Amino acid sequence: MAQELAVQDTCVLVTGGAGFIGSHTVVELLQGGYAVVIVDDLSNASVKVLDRIKTIVGDEAANRLSFYEADVNDRAALEKIFSENKIDRVIHFAGFKAVGESVSKPIEYYSNNIGNTLTLVDVMRNHGCKSIIFSSSATVYGDPDSLPLTEESPKKPATNPYGWTKWMIEQILSDLTVADPEWDVVLLRYFNPIGAHPSGLMGEDPKGIPNNLLPYVAQTAIGKRSEVHVFGDDYPTPDGTGVRDYIHVMDLASGHVAALAWMNGKTGVEIFNLGTGKGTSVLEIIKAFSDACGHEVPYVIDPRRAGDVAENYADCSKAEHEMGWKAQYGIAEMCRDSWNWQSHNPNGYNE
Ligand code: UFG
Repeated sequence: MAQELAVQDTCVLVTGGAGFIGSHTVVELLQGGYAVVIVDDLSNASVKVLDRIKTIVGDEAANRLSFYEADVNDRAALEKIFSENKIDRVIHFAGFKAVGESVSKPIEYYSNNIGNTLTLVDVMRNHGCKSIIFSSSATVYGDPDSLPLTEESPKKPATNPYGWTKWMIEQILSDLTVADPEWDVVLLRYFNPIGAHPSGLMGEDPKGIPNNLLPYVAQTAIGKRSEVHVFGDDYPTPDGTGVRDYIHVMDLASGHVAALAWMNGKTGVEIFNLGTGKGTSVLEIIKAFSDACGHEVPYVIDPRRAGDVAENYADCSKAEHEMGWKAQYGIAEMCRDSWNWQSHNPNGYNE
């Protein structure tokens, strides 16, 4: 049996803990009383996020945080982390995440995302730590046959190497629980994370031109981009633009803390969708963001983007029934916090 632990006795290793979702989750973990070790190679994150985390949580909680700058694929570095800390659970965020880039760099994506997961679980096993929460994605559902998506909805072939890495890592981690009944695996399938910490101290800081809608809208609102390119207005949706289930990153973060509490002492594999259950179109997002920032965000209609589905949104009743978790924030709050972050940090963490 996996060991049941009190929160104050639990040390959580967070891979990719300096990234967008990782950093918000680390704050929630520290505020929830956990000890946290971050491992992050800072390839797509700023070291400055660590000071922001400490400012938000305060000195007592900050004393429960440690940081290692290392690649999760670096076995020697991981061995050192597990030797120097009694790691009880792992939340695994670290990975490359740009859908378009994954199409042009499949070797890098498979090698990094799958390679680092294999290294991680091997080192975990060597140290007797067999509890892991994995950052999966609604991308594993592909083009849905019916909505809302439940955890029972079929997995579909991915449309890009990034999506395949999520798909395959889910399989790999599930196989571990078959081979060894002591493993304890939770796969969290995120819908579209947006928003920022309400303090305005942490948020999404994409390098280069944003691939995702919200950072693009936010950078347009601040004047760094001239207009939002809406990818298609001829989808079979109410206003013709793509519909997604956007979830506040704070809700996503609290979902990880709920999953940790839920899995405590359990074994086997379980899957949870983390979304809000509500679909919002691209035009509705632009409207909500315009309301949040106080001026119209300009946009143009462009052709559809290859690989996009018309619509997806989650059924999150399993997470509510099993873990007692439910998203709290609506679209207006997501846009408010995203704008608060963007307007106070126009260049992200690079002032
Ligand atoms: N969109 C635009 N203009 C943009 C960017 C996006 O109109 O500049 C539209 C897309 O066509 C889509 C919606 O906004 O309808 C959301 O697009 P995002 O790129 O923000 O998000 P996706 O739904 O494409 O992708 C997200 C995650 C992926 C994950 C995928 C699967 O970013 O990591 O969901 O659920 F794989």
